[in-house]
Amino acid sequence: MSHNLNGKAALVTGGSRGIGREIAKRFAADGATVAVTYNANSTGADETVAAIEKAGGTAFALQADLLDAGSIPDLFEKLDRELAERKGGNALDILVNNAGNEGWANLSDATPEAWDAIFAVHARAPFFMVQSALSRFSDDARIINLSSGLSTRPLPSAPVYSAAKAAINTLTHVLAMELGARGITVNAVAPGWTATDMNTAVRENADMLKGIEADTALGRFGETSDIAAVVAFLASDDGRWVTGQVIEASGGYRL
Ligand SMILES: NC(=O)c1ccc[n+]([C@@H]2O[C@H](COP(=O)([O-])OP(=O)(O)OC[C@H]3O[C@@H](n4cnc5c(N)ncnc54)[C@H](OP(=O)(O)O)[C@@H]3O)[C@@H](O)[C@H]2O)c1
Repeated sequence: MSHNLNGKAALVTGGSRGIGREIAKRFAADGATVAVTYNANSTGADETVAAIEKAGGTAFALQADLLDAGSIPDLFEKLDRELAERKGGNALDILVNNAGNEGWANLSDATPEAWDAIFAVHARAPFFMVQSALSRFSDDARIINLSSGLSTRPLPSAPVYSAAKAAINTLTHVLAMELGARGITVNAVAPGWTATDMNTAVRENADMLKGIEADTALGRFGETSDIAAVVAFLASDDGRWVTGQVIEASGGYRL
């Protein structure tokens, strides 16, 4: 860990578990004040905050259901108040659009409602998060979107999720073009299989687990810290010249 995020304010959506929790912990260890959002799991969000505080960092949790784009302006008003209390202003230095709902709707069982729910959280919310953050971003702010390896190598059993992640790649590209003049970088990190609640059943299936490990150049299932390390690089000063990119972090899955 370094302390290169000292004095920075970061917002991580979906910080109550999984990859988002690990990113929040990493940012706090690197010196940032970290806001984590959650949807239903306030206990998980409290655990993230407690873990950060126990390690000497600063964090707080905010609730927002990102299925509803209308919750986003309210979320930023709450963020303003919390940041003003802790830092004397509402400047936001790092936004990580990480929250993701499950939904492996396939061609035969998908409904329009399932399509909308997946796109709402994975693609629409990140766009409107950036819109609401525009007036709060510091001039060298960092936006990091969580994509997926499936955005470029789609899975037939998850066509809607794969398409939503392809949408986030395109938004990453176009927002980098739009915000570059302000010195703001916009990148996506595309994890491969990473051990979280999203794939407990996969990891409990010995044959599937073996197949994934065999298909991965580095020979193992990913850990949340593997993803947080890449996000931390993009958020740091060392990542200043990288923008508009989708960086796959999968241990070399199906190279
Ligand atoms: N794990 C993988 O293998 C993998 C691979 C590629 C990409 N990704 C991407 O990485 C990101 C994080 O995945 P993960 O595996 O860490 O997920 P996870 O462990 O299932 O956690 C999901 C997070 O998103 C939040 N969330 C879910 N629905 C929400 C909603 N309607 N509104 C607001 N927040 C909501 C959850 O909040 P609550 O706890 O309150 O429910 C939780 O904090 C996602 O974008 C995912 O698509 C993951």
